[in-house]
Amino acid sequence: MSILEAAQEETAKKPIKQLDHRYDGIAKVTGKATYAGDFKEPFAKDDLLYAWMVQSTIANGTIASMDSSAAEHAPGVVAVMTPFNSPKIPQPPAQPPARRNLTILQNTDVKYNGQPIAVVVAKTLVQARQAATLLKIKYTEQPAKVIYQDHLADARWPGNPGKEPAGNTRGDIAAGFAKATVTVEGTYTTPIQVHNPMEPHATIAWWEGEKLNLYDATQYITGVKMSIAKTLNIPLDFVRVQCPYTGGGFGSKGSSWSHIPLCAMAAKLTGKPVKLVLDRSQMFGPVGARPSTVNKIKLGATADGKLVAMQQNVIMNAAALEDFTEHSAGPTKMLYMSENNQVSEKLVTVNLGVSTFMRAPGEAPGTAVLEIAMDELAEKLKMDPVQLRVINHADKDPSHDRPWTSKNLKQCYTQAAERFGWSKRSATPAQMTEGNNLIGYGMATATYPANRSAAMAIARILPNGRAFIGSGTQDLGTGMYTIMAQTAAAMLGLDPTLMDVKLGDSTLPKAPVSGGSQSTASVMPAVQEAAMQAKLKLFDMAVNDTASPVHGMKTSDLEAKGGKYFAKADPTKGETFVAIIARNGGKPIEATGSAEPSESKDSMTSQSFGAVFAEVAVDKDTHMVKVRRVVATYDIGTLLNDKTGLNQLMGGIVWGVSFATHEDAHIDPNTGRTVNESFAEYHVPVNADIGTIDATVLNIPDLKFNPLGARGIGEIGITGAAAAVANAIYNATGKRIREYPITPDKLM
Ligand code: MOS
Repeated sequence: MSILEAAQEETAKKPIKQLDHRYDGIAKVTGKATYAGDFKEPFAKDDLLYAWMVQSTIANGTIASMDSSAAEHAPGVVAVMTPFNSPKIPQPPAQPPARRNLTILQNTDVKYNGQPIAVVVAKTLVQARQAATLLKIKYTEQPAKVIYQDHLADARWPGNPGKEPAGNTRGDIAAGFAKATVTVEGTYTTPIQVHNPMEPHATIAWWEGEKLNLYDATQYITGVKMSIAKTLNIPLDFVRVQCPYTGGGFGSKGSSWSHIPLCAMAAKLTGKPVKLVLDRSQMFGPVGARPSTVNKIKLGATADGKLVAMQQNVIMNAAALEDFTEHSAGPTKMLYMSENNQVSEKLVTVNLGVSTFMRAPGEAPGTAVLEIAMDELAEKLKMDPVQLRVINHADKDPSHDRPWTSKNLKQCYTQAAERFGWSKRSATPAQMTEGNNLIGYGMATATYPANRSAAMAIARILPNGRAFIGSGTQDLGTGMYTIMAQTAAAMLGLDPTLMDVKLGDSTLPKAPVSGGSQSTASVMPAVQEAAMQAKLKLFDMAVNDTASPVHGMKTSDLEAKGGKYFAKADPTKGETFVAIIARNGGKPIEATGSAEPSESKDSMTSQSFGAVFAEVAVDKDTHMVKVRRVVATYDIGTLLNDKTGLNQLMGGIVWGVSFATHEDAHIDPNTGRTVNESFAEYHVPVNADIGTIDATVLNIPDLKFNPLGARGIGEIGITGAAAAVANAIYNATGKRIREYPITPDKLM
């Protein structure tokens, strides 16, 4: 065992001292946190120009002409960039690493309504927006296909040229159904959903000669850097991306969209710093959305409740510009033990904006639909829904036929059911009433994979008794600053309040996208290693320093705690970090660390699970649904920070409630534009919509996954929650709604 492994094992055993406040909390609540669009430096105030992104008003065709003369002469206007005058980018738009087919004014094609087709740059935002209305645009329109549900027969396999993916079937599905004594079969649908982080997409771009600087609201500074360098055909090292705070992202900010290169192009064209912030309405279309899915599900079980066949065939919308598959059949492949499974996911190309990752892509809609079908199966079997899930518990990963690194789902069912009071449920619907309300209880299983990627960090033990930890990662409001501070502090033997943390700058060592719930699991081992290496350098300095009380000892004989190093055998032999550094040049002790997934990642599956229970009240007259309580218990490995961790799980649950009863992007069948492109009409829950949420974790370390035993928690909270609410609505009303969202009209 290496000295690092030994230290990590020791750290994993001792609970890390948590920061009980968010590292970034005070900056945020006092308005001192500078988000991408807020920066006023390093450029002079009057230098900053404002860009407005102009969008197409047709769904399919070409731009025949664009007369920009009136716009160019409008007050304050500095430049108007159109497909006819825009700087030519000397190579096709980048595919990898962003894998986005960007629209950056290199041709006149229009593939969806809302596509960026021009940029107006002016002295003020108002002037830019006003001038944009003066553009005279003529289109050559082509017939558009926008409602994919009208074209399900056109469904095709994803990819180009569109081959059937292998390995999506196990066993013999027909033989499985032949053995079944009970089956349920139905079509379950989920709508298009649109990410609406509080902070919209925002970019400030400025050039210093050939070098491009970006402040960008992103989940992936390194991704923006790679994508922009490739798109603009400039060396990677010429791009610097900074994003110290991200005001939510939910997957939308995981990749680079057209507005980023457009902003950089406008800055180049004008020779000035340019700010481009998307309006709320512009969040609906050009920056991704969760596609809608139609899921045909069939489940077969024997009389004892054992699943013998599971089938899910999915059709969803995809964009003319680019494919994206929402893997909503994912949970059917692995959530329960069934020998015979068949799933498929197909796409219908329509003239809409590109689909993309949105919180728990795949698992969110996948559990939302499968877990209603499971509830129906339990009812047909006259079996408790929890019992049905326990009977079909997957002791190993059925989709890969390999063990889990750690799984304690049964304990989640027990703990959450107990906390919820599940035993008081009436199995027969519409039996529990309270005043004018029908009361219902429902439950579902939650799941999300545990991902991990290579990451790097840099640590410095400072001469002033503090320490620094940095990594090119991001904090979406999720707690990255906080856990970086406490994880490095634990390794260095410092109080976490003595840490200085830096992230969100592409000049820092690289870290992965803050997506796929992987940041904690990826970045913390690198933080540990960097801090460990810095500590070892300090120990080395001490044993070689004739004035040190540990002179001549071995570094492995030393320990650090409370800002001091000392001999393990005799803690009186030691001194402060400040003292040893002062005697040896007074400079910070610096070390970098990197970490990546172990090789065992291909022989085992790491996955998080949970059990979600919901109580709803449905008004008998108005059919309004109130989600009064959600109780959920998760198995997510070690919880590194109670406050930031449980907050994320609660946020996910709120989104599950939103999925169940609110969110739905309506596409106008005539224009292909999202009709409800505002917070007034795209409904998300407000405080009054959310009752109490009781989220707990088992806190059982998954040490086969990483040295902290911690799996990610960003996404699992939304999974299962929608179905728990849907099943509670059925239990309350006896009405089985298979189409999300479950709005009052569907309950009439
Ligand atoms: Mo998440 S949808 O992987 O940012």
